[in-house]
Parts: sequence; C-alpha cells; structure tokens
Amino acid sequence: MPLRERINDAQQEPINDSFGLELGKPGLAGNLIDDIGFCDVQRGLVVNDTILRSDLRTQPGAKPSGYGRQTYESPLFCTNLASNKWGGLLYLCAFVPQGGSVTWSQEVVPAEHQDIHTLLRDSERLPRHVAMIMDGNGRWAQDRGRVRIDGHREGMESVRSAVKTCSQLGIRYLTLYAFSIENWKRPVPEVRFLMSLLESYLEREVDELHANGVRIRTIGKTNALPKSVQRMLQTAMDRTRENTGLTLTLALSYGSRWDIARAVQVMAMDVRRGKLSPEDLTEETITQYLQTSYMPDPDLIVRTSGEMRLSNFLMWEAAYAEIYVTEQLWPDFRSRDLYRALSEYVVRERRFGKTSAQVAESSGESPRTTLERILHALR
Ligand code: FPP
Repeated sequence: MPLRERINDAQQEPINDSFGLELGKPGLAGNLIDDIGFCDVQRGLVVNDTILRSDLRTQPGAKPSGYGRQTYESPLFCTNLASNKWGGLLYLCAFVPQGGSVTWSQEVVPAEHQDIHTLLRDSERLPRHVAMIMDGNGRWAQDRGRVRIDGHREGMESVRSAVKTCSQLGIRYLTLYAFSIENWKRPVPEVRFLMSLLESYLEREVDELHANGVRIRTIGKTNALPKSVQRMLQTAMDRTRENTGLTLTLALSYGSRWDIARAVQVMAMDVRRGKLSPEDLTEETITQYLQTSYMPDPDLIVRTSGEMRLSNFLMWEAAYAEIYVTEQLWPDFRSRDLYRALSEYVVRERRFGKTSAQVAESSGESPRTTLERILHALR
C-alpha cells in the first residue's frame, strides 16, 4: 500500500499510545499538513508550541527509553505516529486541523546530513563555543546584480540554519557578529534595514527558539540601538532567560576594543572605590569584567567570504580559538558548510602551548581516527 494511504489508514485506527504519548482524541485528526519524511527524531515534534516528546530515537521494534507521558490540552491537534520503520528511522506525520501550526523541534535533521550529524554530535570533540563573522552579504547581492540589502535578507536564512544546526548538535554557545560598532558608519538606509531585519528576526523566531530551549543574549553597546529594537531584545532575553539549550549571543553594536576599554573603566572605578586592588587586575578579573564573562572563550571562529581578519571581534576571548575561514559568502553558508567547518575543527590538535606528545597523552581518541570516521561519513 502506498505510504500516504498507509498513513491515512493509520489515522482511522484507534490512536496507538505505545510510544507513551497521550494523544488527542481519536478521530479528531484534521488535514495532513506535512509529509515530514524519514527523520531521526530525538526531541520530537512541536505542535502549536508544544514539544510533543523527546527521545523518539528508536531501534526497530524497541520502545523509546526515557519517555514520559504528556497530556495535551489543545483540542487543535491530533498527531499520529505511524510506526513504519525505514532503515531504523521512524516515519512521522502530523495531522493538524486548519489554523494549527507545526514546526520541527531542534533535533530533526535532514536525512542527507544524518551520518555526519551523528558523528559530530557523538565525537566529544565538538566546540563548546562557536563564534561567527558573517561576512559577504553585500558581495553576494552584488554578484547577482541585486542591492546589498538583499544579501542581508538572504543572510538571515544562514543565521537560521546556523542556529538550528548548532542547537541540534548540542553546541552550548553560538555568538554571531550581527552588527559591529564600526557598522554605524554604513549608509543610513542600510543601517535602518539591518535594524528592521533584526526586529523581524526577533518577531518571527523567538517562539521557535524558545520552544527549542535557546537562550538569547546580547553583547555590545546595545543602548545605541533603536529603542524599539532594545525593547524587543529585552523581551526575548527575559522570555528565554531560563532556557538551558544553546546560548545564542547576538553581537550588536559590538567591538572588542570598546568592550575592553569599558571593562578597564569599570575596573578603574572599582579600584578607586576600594572594591579591587591593582594586584587584583589579573587575566581572570579582566575576563570577568568583559560583557562576555558568562560564556567560555570561543573554541572555533568561523569567518565567511575569505577575509583573514578578526575585525574587532572577541579579540581578548579568541586568544586560543581555532579559526576557520571559507571563501563562501555568508548567504551561501548553510548547515552542510557548518558541518564541514566542524569536521575540520574536530581533527585539529589544540595544544594550548603544550607539546603534541603531552596532548596525545591526555586526550582520548586520536584526531586521525576521528578524521577517518568523518571522511567516511562525508563520502
Ligand atoms: C557583513 O556583510 C554582514 C553584516 C554587516 C550584517 C550581518 C547581518 C545579518 C546576516 C542579518 C541579521 C542578523 C541577525 C542575527 C538578525 P557585508 O555587508 O559587510 O558584506 P560585504 O563585505 O560583501 O560588503
């Protein structure tokens, strides 16, 4: 029987809660709005802002483990988990009546990226903190005979993809250089457009980011941003404050020298007040006074568009960061490209001043073995 028919058939059957789901009333199902396909689902489906369930990753025939029951009060949906297994993956489809909405939670990864995704996620070598210099939006647009702002608009899609991929992989921190303190020198219409893009990002994305456990933070001279943007940022930060997934930091009106100078001023004031003594001004203290004090130093800095510079981004924090530069322009930089950057990162040897032999002694799997597995997965 064709798959779609099988699913429709399944819809007529009493709802099967053998996966531990407390599903909506049988027979309530509305339109099949999305034929989602074969996915390795670990966190479940989000229907009307509710994450249906986590840990759906199953072995054929096995019941998912660590799987709690949930009750759904919304009468708006009925979800059917068709138990068709296909290569160990679970086939999911969602039936949502008109007006309902479905988004995927963070762990649904397209089938073509499964191998590399799983390898990277399980490699135990992933960076804790990835920071990105998103460069080349203007050139991307110009190459296509379009206006610069089209490049920024397209760049938003790459932002979405980077956030989702990092979150899916379990990376703890992602910092995006969205607007530098020097960017205020750009033509006023471009600056205005970037601000409106930021507003629409917050307007459209915060629900989904929140549903996926993303915590939003900012660094930079944010009081220079338009008041409306400041308000939206504050709301987004307040709303996502308690989230424990990816910490997404937007560097806005940010400059590393600005932050260092600001930190030095505050430290000097604290010395004057007697809160600090000059001997306290150690590397650790300086780190604590920077706006980035809540995050670990970046392990990996990705820069698109081939430029070999830091451009006043996280200069103190990047002391031991691995740098990955790609010729690709930011709007072209999507999850596959991030997987490549991460694959390169996981096989680099980070010595932090030690010798190779010392590093090998203290680390587990050798970079070569990791490389072999990743190359195999990319093949
Ligand atoms: C650099 O490209 C990019 C920027 C100054 C802006 C980056 C902004 C976005 C990707 C969208 C907004 C982001 C968020 C997080 C809401 P460029 O214009 O300098 O490109 P060019 O070097 O080719 O001129």
